[in-house]
Amino acid sequence: MSLSEAARAVRENAYAPYSNFKVGAALRAPSGAIYSGCNVENVAYPEGTCAEAGAIAAMIAAGETEITEAYVIAGSPAPVPPCGGCRQKLAEFAKGDVTVTLATTEGIETAMKVSDLLPGAFGRDHMENS
Ligand code: THU
Repeated sequence: MSLSEAARAVRENAYAPYSNFKVGAALRAPSGAIYSGCNVENVAYPEGTCAEAGAIAAMIAAGETEITEAYVIAGSPAPVPPCGGCRQKLAEFAKGDVTVTLATTEGIETAMKVSDLLPGAFGRDHMENS
């Protein structure tokens, strides 16, 4: 299964009764394995989690810690970029030159680099003197 197929498939399982906005995310790790996740909303709205966070949790639970490629898909008119928090979460595990493909269910795709999604990212090197 390709990264796009995995993201499209997991999106179907998204639990989004409040926004009705289903999102699927799939990540590839160095082993070649694909980890996928979908958004999971909650009646207490801030407790919901994004698709990217779910995919990262699956990757970490499986014992991998590096993202080599990512794909995010939603039923939006234009490819929807990850929220600010998810950009930071992706940057924790992906180098700046890693490609994140943003897609719509209609087939529009935009490829971006992690460094473009989060320019000036806060990283470990900023804590070196602490
Ligand atoms: N959402 C994601 O899962 N990922 C994104 O990149 C953008 C937003 C979810 C969160 C919420 O469940 C719904 O989309 C509407 O914001």
